[in-house]
Amino acid sequence: MKVLGIESSCDETGVAVYDTGAGLLAHCLHSQIDLHAAYGGVVPELASRDHIRRLPMLIKQALAQAGLESRDVDAVAYTSGPGLAGALLVGASVAESFALARGIPALPVHHLEGHLLSPLLSADPPQFPFVALLVSGGHTQLMRVRGVGDYALLGESADDAAGEAFDKTAKLLGLGYPGGPQLARLAEQGVAGRFRLPRPMLHSGDLDFSFSGLKTAVLNVVSGPDWDPSAMADLAAEFQQAVVEVLCAKALAALKKTGLKTLVVAGGVGANLHLRQTLDAALQQRGGRVHYPEPALCTDNGAMIAFAGAMRFAAGEAVPGEPSVRIRPRW
Ligand code: KG4
Ligand code: ZN
Repeated sequence: MKVLGIESSCDETGVAVYDTGAGLLAHCLHSQIDLHAAYGGVVPELASRDHIRRLPMLIKQALAQAGLESRDVDAVAYTSGPGLAGALLVGASVAESFALARGIPALPVHHLEGHLLSPLLSADPPQFPFVALLVSGGHTQLMRVRGVGDYALLGESADDAAGEAFDKTAKLLGLGYPGGPQLARLAEQGVAGRFRLPRPMLHSGDLDFSFSGLKTAVLNVVSGPDWDPSAMADLAAEFQQAVVEVLCAKALAALKKTGLKTLVVAGGVGANLHLRQTLDAALQQRGGRVHYPEPALCTDNGAMIAFAGAMRFAAGEAVPGEPSVRIRPRW
């Protein structure tokens, strides 16, 4: 079965084709970073318009890359939410129209399920069951995953997501957009511990997170009388260390609680090198293992949506009856 996947929830337009027999056949992506950079963040209206501009071309490109005609596609999967309403509408409309025209099913997919399953697309995929740490710009969650569609939420952030904390802190330090990767790059040049930031909820005894206070703590440092801007890298390193320490401690606690040895990390913050090194070392010590998506599939993409859709079709998921553009921005 060949599934066309469409992702348009935020500032990346992604189209891919996943074949349940042959694997990933095509993976095309257009990033809107340059479009939003001047505004210091994603402008929803501009995002929607650019998805409209890019999608037809990307679909053509993906089909060509896969060596397919549009009539060879068996089903369409698209990101239904969560995300920006206007941006989601574009992908959903295109996907439903494509499916209607070809007389094939269209399946709305949860964006986080895409991230969650994306490590299964790697050459050495994890086996079920595992604990998943989902760390994106919009979510920070720990899940127990027994199989496709069998997810139990173990803990999540009460306020800012880890990626959001990176982005907001980067902004208040005057770094460019997108902030997370830039802050991480700056942190590599600094030394953690020269400043002391809190480790929010480290000892809360549950698997929940809170990151908004960390950003405020950084604000207090940079607006204090003793602030020396030449120490910016050290502050960035301490911020990164604080986030990584909490994520790592809670992920280990989730493994302990579930008795599992496999951790899957997905979502944009999963690209963070310090997080990876810390988790790898901790799991190695405990005889466990961490799985990540391929680097190209860490941030938003169509491949994870095509794959999640394909897994659901393969599991016999019933497709919603009447064609209808289904979006759930706050899903
Ligand atoms: O999964 P994703 O591409 O989009 C969402 O679904 O949100 O994640 C984007 C988030 C942003 O907040 C970005 O700043 C963060 O992931 N991010 C990073 C790094 N690369 C991306 N955060 C920390 N370190 C990185 N290297
Ligand atoms: Zn995402």
